[in-house]
Amino acid sequence: MIRKSVTLGMALAVGALASTCAIAQDTVKIGAVLPLTGGLAPVGKQVQAGIQLYIQQHGATVVGKTIDLIIKDDAGVPDNTKRLAQELIVNDKVSVIGSGHTPGAMAVGPLSTQSKTANVVMVSGTSGVINPNNPYMVRTSFTLGQQSGIIGEWAAKNGSKKVVIVQSDWAPGAEATAVFSEAFSRAGGQVVDTIKVPLANPDFSPFLQRARDLNPDTLFVFVPAGQAGTFAKQFAERGLDKAGIKLIGPGDIVDDNDLQGMGNSMLGVVTAGFYSAAHDSKMNKDYVAAFEKANNVRPNFISLGGYDGMHLIYEALKKTGGKTDGDGLINAMKGMKWESPRGPISIDPQTRDIVQNIYLGKVEKVNGQLYTIQFATFEAVKDPLKMKK
Ligand code: PHB
Repeated sequence: MIRKSVTLGMALAVGALASTCAIAQDTVKIGAVLPLTGGLAPVGKQVQAGIQLYIQQHGATVVGKTIDLIIKDDAGVPDNTKRLAQELIVNDKVSVIGSGHTPGAMAVGPLSTQSKTANVVMVSGTSGVINPNNPYMVRTSFTLGQQSGIIGEWAAKNGSKKVVIVQSDWAPGAEATAVFSEAFSRAGGQVVDTIKVPLANPDFSPFLQRARDLNPDTLFVFVPAGQAGTFAKQFAERGLDKAGIKLIGPGDIVDDNDLQGMGNSMLGVVTAGFYSAAHDSKMNKDYVAAFEKANNVRPNFISLGGYDGMHLIYEALKKTGGKTDGDGLINAMKGMKWESPRGPISIDPQTRDIVQNIYLGKVEKVNGQLYTIQFATFEAVKDPLKMKK
């Protein structure tokens, strides 16, 4: 059953106590707080579509219990996230909570710890969101570090000497910059400047002009899902492609949701990412077809955090026989391994963070449409920032 918070009030108003108790035994409530409006709406919509597709394909019953999904929109504002997550945990008594973008996931963290509620992080790409202080959190999304070190080394080995970084100015951007800079410098490259662009309503043009004036051979760019289209347009308008400046980054810059509309200036862009809609597996072909049928857009890398997050919840419920206490669910989730449309993935039993393949990919035209074609695989990559500790 999928419902929005509006129907909840009605259910409570008409439901007698006895019937509420009966329902409670037969249902597992899963709450998710996602940015469905505001600047990060494209993120929330993809992850929500991933969640819904999983339920559509696998049914809304697990070990005899009905899955009751309650999705709330925080508009990307962490104060809202906190209030809504509190309502879900205290009033709705959800057994599992799904959290979204980095500030949202950070707001839900302490609440899931205090209430011992399993918390599946489906969007955030910031390393520190999964940490020892919040033992009920696991991640099915990604970290920017997983991708940025690999592209840093590749760039240094493939002709990039002088890089300017253009980075969306918030936590995942800072991590992309730090991990890339370290790897690229260690491999002999030089980062000449790091230019930070505001997260909200970015106009990249003046920043791109500054980058161009520094005369780099390569631009390393991190922008979150939903901003790659605007970035690509302004990159071409400023003539950076014509100036022969190479564009590289983590997978966010070739967001499949935007790629079709991004134009030929993106041809040849090389990224290290964990997903491409063109990933060559039967499971992914089926995923893309089903997702496009349901949503009329390509799935992007963000959608997988929702789809795989639901898989993790379903499989953990099977292991616990439907029991929903936080300790039981998190223990069941630790070490879980499965095949995702993105490739093989697992949950690191020590850190509760995602382990996944990272693929080097290049933007090419296939049947007249832009796709990231993966050409090399780094297997079972852990979050490098956690490995260091
Ligand atoms: C995040 O919330 O950390 C995040 C969101 C979208 C991205 C990358 C990171 O594309």
